[in-house]
Amino acid sequence: MKKSMLFVLALVFVLACALPAAAKDYKVGVAIYQFDDNFMTLYRNELQDYMKSLETDDEKYDITIVDGKNDMAEQSNQIDNFITQGMDVIILNLVQTSSADAIIDKIVANEIPLILINREPLGDDGDESYAGILDNANVCYVGADARQSGTYQGEIVAELENHGDINGDGKISYIMIEGDPENIDAQYRTEFSVKALVDAGFEVEELDDQVGNWAQAKGQEIAANDLSKFGDAIEVIFCNNDAMALGAAAAIQAAGRKVGEDIYLLGVDALAECVEMVENGEMTGTVLNDHIGQSHQAVDAAIAALHGEELQNYYWVDYVKVTK
Ligand code: GAL
Repeated sequence: MKKSMLFVLALVFVLACALPAAAKDYKVGVAIYQFDDNFMTLYRNELQDYMKSLETDDEKYDITIVDGKNDMAEQSNQIDNFITQGMDVIILNLVQTSSADAIIDKIVANEIPLILINREPLGDDGDESYAGILDNANVCYVGADARQSGTYQGEIVAELENHGDINGDGKISYIMIEGDPENIDAQYRTEFSVKALVDAGFEVEELDDQVGNWAQAKGQEIAANDLSKFGDAIEVIFCNNDAMALGAAAAIQAAGRKVGEDIYLLGVDALAECVEMVENGEMTGTVLNDHIGQSHQAVDAAIAALHGEELQNYYWVDYVKVTK
């Protein structure tokens, strides 16, 4: 080899060593069931901010977040696109947990790590968790155990001086405003809020149980109808989330009733406006659904998967009771 050639090769080698290695750019696909949801908006913003804050000179995260518009077919298309785009990891907030199998199988078949969030997928019997899928080292669920939030709602009422029995007739008369009934959060909160009262030895009377689909306007409509139908007989309004409780609070005010005096109102999520309402007595209590803890855990799991680490089946984040 000629001397000049050797010199060029040596120069190329020295330059290559001196240049910083290119940063690894990971593609992260995040599919949210619906952008128009107070809680999931806080969640997704925090998820994005936190993941970006973890970027280093060596590692970047190119995050794409899509809105499933509460439509399973739409979300299914979005996941197809994520696969075509070659996402390195997918964070998925399912629209419909009961028909999750197909969508999850697709992702798994393409060997893309999958972090399921917020809506725990159900097994065939609609009760057991989707353990088979979660056993896969590339798949996990990050969430909070909705039974705990329901129990906390019930306990807040049980701990009141009159235990929610305002008219002293020996029973707690309530209405229940439910989130999307297909969602385990709605099922468990509905069941366990009442169970906590019964387990504590109180008699309960359900005046009404309606679906408000997590939405403020629907919560207001249901509460307004029930307040005019049942009047003073309603002692407690349980809402599966704070958005619906905000609606119910407006209906309570319009009906001339007063929280803490002639009615009690409970939510879940601890949205900032609801925490303020608990502080000034416009709501009896709520339960912190820790969007910060959950989104951070989801990102940490996603990054672990990107680094080839095995995932646990579940990562649980605790709820926290919020009272005055
Ligand atoms: C729940 C939350 C609701 C709603 C729902 C969406 O955990 O409490 O407000 O965001 O998730 O799946």
